[in-house]
Amino acid sequence: MTPNQEQILAALKHVKHPGMEQNIVDAGMVSDVRAEGSQVFFSLTFPKTNDPLSSAVVKACTKALKVYVHPDAEAHVTLKVHRAAEPPVATELQARHTIAVASGKGGVGKSTVAVNLAVALAGAGYRVGLLDADVYGPSVPKMFRAEDAVPVAISRDGKDWIQPVEKYGVKMLSIGFFVKPEQAVVWRGPMATSALKQLVNQGDWGELDFLLIDMPPGTGDVHITIAQELKLTGAVIVSTPQEVALSDVIKGIAMFRAEHVEVEVLGLIENMSWFTPAELPDHRYFIFGKEGCKRLADEMELPLLGQIPLVQSICEGGDIGVPPALDLESVTGAAFRQLAGRLVDVLNKQA
Ligand SMILES: Nc1ncnc2c1ncn2[C@@H]1O[C@H](COP(=O)(O)OP(=O)(O)OP(=O)(O)O)[C@@H](O)[C@H]1O
Ligand SMILES: [Mg+2]
Repeated sequence: MTPNQEQILAALKHVKHPGMEQNIVDAGMVSDVRAEGSQVFFSLTFPKTNDPLSSAVVKACTKALKVYVHPDAEAHVTLKVHRAAEPPVATELQARHTIAVASGKGGVGKSTVAVNLAVALAGAGYRVGLLDADVYGPSVPKMFRAEDAVPVAISRDGKDWIQPVEKYGVKMLSIGFFVKPEQAVVWRGPMATSALKQLVNQGDWGELDFLLIDMPPGTGDVHITIAQELKLTGAVIVSTPQEVALSDVIKGIAMFRAEHVEVEVLGLIENMSWFTPAELPDHRYFIFGKEGCKRLADEMELPLLGQIPLVQSICEGGDIGVPPALDLESVTGAAFRQLAGRLVDVLNKQA
C-alpha cells in the first residue's frame, strides 16, 4: 500500500503544534509529502530553530499516520526552519565543481559510480547535484528508487524552472522523469541535446558544491554538448581493469582533451577491480586482470582515484535503488567514501 498525499495530509491534520492555533497542515508546516509503500516522507517547517516541541510534534505525526493511514506507516521527517525575509535565492546552477563521470565504454559502471559518489559526497556534508546525461538510457532514477518521481515545475520571475528530485541528500534530474526509457532510445541527436540543455539551464539547482554528470557511453554529441554547455571542472573516467576496456578509456580521455573540448581529466576510477564473494569477504579474485587501471593511470600520469570491488551488493543496490554508499558499515560503502575523499583531495590540490 502506498497512501496518497490526501490521505497523509488528512492524517496529519490531527496533529497540532501546542504553540499554534491551527493543526500543522493548516498552519502550513507540512510540505514535500510523498510515500513509498508504508514509508511516508515529508518536511515540517518550524517557526524557530531548536523548537523544543519539534520531537513531540514528530512523534505525534508518526502516531497519526499509524492510526489514520496504516498501522505499518513510518514517518521520515525533514525538519526545516521558517526564515523570515530570506535573501533572494539564486536558483540557477552555481556549482563549485562540475564533474563528468565518463568512460569510452558502456556498462563499466559509470552510473553506479556517479550515483554512489554523489551519495558519498552528500554524506560528507557537501551540497550535491546529479545530472543524468544518459538521455538514451537513463538509469539514475532507478538507482535512486525514484522512477515514479515527478519533478515539480515552478514559475519564478517569468521563467519556468524544474525542481530537481531530492533523495539521499542529492538533487537529481534525469530525462527518465519525463519520458519512458523505451521512448528515449529513439530520440534523434538534436532532441536529446536540447532536452539535456533544458535540464541544465532550467533546473532549479541553486548553489552546489558538486554537480556530477552521469555520462552516456561512447563519445558523441551529448558529450560535446555537456562540455560546452557546462563549465566542467573536469572529468573522471571509469573503467574495469580489462585490456579491452582500457583501450576505450584511452579514446574517452582523448575526447576530453581534444581541441574545442579541452576538459581536464581528473583521474581514473577502477571499477570491478576484483570479485569478492559475500561469504568470503577477505578473498579477492582478479577476474578482469589485476591493476589494469593503475598501470594506465601511471602511464598517462593521472591519479587513480579509487578501486571498487565487484560485489553482489553493488549490483543489487542498483537494482533496488538503495546505493551501497549509504551503508556506513560495509566495505563497499567505505570504498565509495574513500573515492569521494580522494576526489576532494585532487580538487584541493588543484586549487
Ligand atoms: N562494482 C560492481 N559490482 C557489482 N555490480 C556492478 C558494479 N558496478 C556496476 N555493476 C553493475 O553492472 C551493471 C552496469 O553498471 P552501470 O549501469 O553503472 O554501468 P554504465 O557504465 O553506467 O552503463 P551504460 O554504459 O549502459 O550507461 C549494472 O547492473 C550495475 O549494477
Ligand atoms: Mg550508465
